[in-house]
Amino acid sequence: MTVRVALIVGSLRKGSYSRSIGMEMKALAEPGVEIEPVEIGDLPLYDPDLETDSPPPAWERFREEVATTEAVLFVTPEYNRSIPGALKNALDVGSRPYGHSIWQGKPAAIVSVSPGAVAAFGANHHLRQPLVFLNMPTMQQPEAYIGNVADLLDQNGKLKKDDTKAFLKSFTDAFAAWIDKTKA
Ligand code: FNR
Repeated sequence: MTVRVALIVGSLRKGSYSRSIGMEMKALAEPGVEIEPVEIGDLPLYDPDLETDSPPPAWERFREEVATTEAVLFVTPEYNRSIPGALKNALDVGSRPYGHSIWQGKPAAIVSVSPGAVAAFGANHHLRQPLVFLNMPTMQQPEAYIGNVADLLDQNGKLKKDDTKAFLKSFTDAFAAWIDKTKA
């Protein structure tokens, strides 16, 4: 059986370490676990006044893409000890119109990524707060804090070290089991 997972990357930049980690996780996933990026960079800032019969096309595209998946993998850097604004905006866009949240009940997992040693712990845990309100059963263990990420990826954004690969593979497998256990 196939499970479709939306990969939402908190960084918008082309050379993003977070995106590389997410794409490596896609490659490490077992057959039947399809992890596909859903882009957030073109979403206009959430404004309830735009929530009309014809909302911004990028909102509609985003809502539709996430709605057709069964789970969400968030891979994000930390901005100023929290999540990037683009990621918060995507959460807000997906949460409305009221009563039609695309997040409702979807299993989630969080991987935080940083070139620093603290490994974006702040972003990882700030992200958990809206996911509680959005009613997304979020995997608690294992946790994934990927620090010193510049040392873990080569110039093509591929993982260099077997132990990192093994860890991210085990995290991805644990998430697949979590999805199976918690999905609606
Ligand atoms: C950062 N960065 C950063 N890193 C960190 O570990 N903790 C932090 O609080 C911050 N704050 C922060 C704010 C802003 C506005 C920027 C642009 C950057 C550094 C950040 O981790 C680094 O740029 C990463 O490379 C971003 O992730 P991507 O884009 O490589 O996925």
